[in-house]
Amino acid sequence: MRHFTPTNGQMMVENVNLSAIANEVGTPAYVYSAATLTRHYNVFKKAVSAMDALIAYSVKANSNLAVLRLLAKQGCGADVVSGGELARALKAGIPANKIVFSGVGKAEPELRAALSAGIFQFNVESIPELDLLNSIAVEMQTIAPIAFRINPNVCAGTHEKICTGRAENKFGVDIADADAAFERARNYPGIAVNGIAMHIGSQIDNLAPFASALTLGAGLIERLRAAGHRIETFDIGGGLGIPYHAEETAPPEPLQYGELVHRLTDGLGLKMIFEPGRMIVGNAGVLLAKTIYVKQGGARNFLIIDAAMNDLIRPALYDAHHDIEPVTTPAADTEMVSYDVVGPICESGDTFTQNRQLPEMQAGDLLVLHSAGAYGAVQASQYNSRPLVPEVLVSGDKFALIRERPSMEDILKTESIPDWV
Ligand code: LLP
Repeated sequence: MRHFTPTNGQMMVENVNLSAIANEVGTPAYVYSAATLTRHYNVFKKAVSAMDALIAYSVKANSNLAVLRLLAKQGCGADVVSGGELARALKAGIPANKIVFSGVGKAEPELRAALSAGIFQFNVESIPELDLLNSIAVEMQTIAPIAFRINPNVCAGTHEKICTGRAENKFGVDIADADAAFERARNYPGIAVNGIAMHIGSQIDNLAPFASALTLGAGLIERLRAAGHRIETFDIGGGLGIPYHAEETAPPEPLQYGELVHRLTDGLGLKMIFEPGRMIVGNAGVLLAKTIYVKQGGARNFLIIDAAMNDLIRPALYDAHHDIEPVTTPAADTEMVSYDVVGPICESGDTFTQNRQLPEMQAGDLLVLHSAGAYGAVQASQYNSRPLVPEVLVSGDKFALIRERPSMEDILKTESIPDWV
């Protein structure tokens, strides 16, 4: 159940009317439902409850401190990919011993920060990273717990830009080189090996790629154990897809995913680590926007709204679909019109959708872009000098601004003109 439903002709988020939020915070703005967030976390938790599982929410999907705190209070861990995300996770109260650190380019200060914090595990993605981490750990007189992130060469069947598990992708240690990597780590004084990790891609809409990766992973674990390595953890990453179209077949349910993972790893005595991102926050948020103009072009009808590609880049970057709906329920006899929904940015790529059938809209009408809780606000920029889009969290009948819209003064004060210009 989504907590984004019309009541008495107005779209609500939980018990708050979106028009009230628009009045107070202005538009565009991201609006998240706390109840949906916690519900999704608990659905996932239940789906993996037959296993010894660590759920490490992938912070990159939505890294707002309030979102992280909400998940921390549920007992959730974190998957981080930068020193910045580590700082956020810790500040939000996620314990270090529930944090895993992924990423192909962890820089020395980031490795040091994570070692000082005492995180659960580094997901090491290359031999040069292993060597550097070992030398830093030795110097700091500590031991770095690691898993090798393995690249299993499995095609996740998702959008090209978010496929991460094929041999031509930059991620992980090639599965053919895994045995040598574990051998090398064996005698490193600054390294303790926990296990293996994988993450094959995002918005994966069927279970087959997960099954392939899990089978390859389980085989590798048995081989490594036979060679005398202690393998206790298997981090299967994130990637489970979510429904973006109200009217299309939905990706597999978390429960089916959990059953698959359990079936393919049962009996190995592993602690399983999961890094869901989109599944937790994607459908817990909308982007609230206002119609600026309705414009008849030479070939198309344009609905020009005050949100743009700098606020939500997914359609421009991944040809992503987001359902669009007016905040005020249209009267039954409202005509349906075909619109290209576009933002104010000076690029034709600033198009959310083309030829979308929507109820006829007027200037000033509010609308939402659904499924915008993941990879929305975190990928926003200030392109065209548009202030970073604010974020609002709703819980029951209350709401709070959890990231402000910076003023033009705030933005300009970070820049300076050298006196020699
Ligand atoms: N773990 C690792 C190592 C990852 O790289 C990712 C996502 C996740 C977990 C979480 O995956 P999820 O459960 O959210 O699918 N900006 C793109 C998605 C990029 C995903 C990057 N990695 C989009 O808007 O579709």
